[in-house]
Amino acid sequence: MLERMTTRMEHMSGGMMGMMGRIDAPSSTERHTLLAYLQRHAQQAIDPAKYPELQNTAAGRAFSTTCSRCHALPEPRQHTAIEWIGVEGRMQRNMDIMGRSIPSEATLQKILEFLQKHATPEAH
Ligand code: HEC
Repeated sequence: MLERMTTRMEHMSGGMMGMMGRIDAPSSTERHTLLAYLQRHAQQAIDPAKYPELQNTAAGRAFSTTCSRCHALPEPRQHTAIEWIGVEGRMQRNMDIMGRSIPSEATLQKILEFLQKHATPEAH
């Protein structure tokens, strides 16, 4: 959550809000600490042994290469199908901000389908 806010602050200080004065965003060391915290406490890594599709389907391979570039490959069951739409959108923004290449729409769609297929069911 802190990292998300950092991102937002950076956006604001460089963008539209620039006129309103500089907003200090945490340094990259602080950000690294935040990310490490996230990985320890929030982000659940996938167990590849449970997902043969990571190797033997195109969607699984796209997910595996794209989503392990900045942190451990996430476990799909940690979000619902609807939540994954939002998370993927945020990750696209993370890639943009961190200067990483963004996969094609078609690839992102395949990754989303993979995540949604294995997502946790909606609570009713
Ligand atoms: C450019 C680096 C980068 C890439 C590539 C990336 N992420 Fe992330 N991810 C982050 C950062 C930074 C955070 C912590 C801040 C946040 O949550 O936005 C994060 C956090 C997460 C979290 C934990 C927070 C939550 O909402 O559950 C999940 C899950 C996640 N990423 C999934 C993905 C998926 C799926 C992909 C592939 C589509 C992906 N990430 C690719 C940078 C990246």
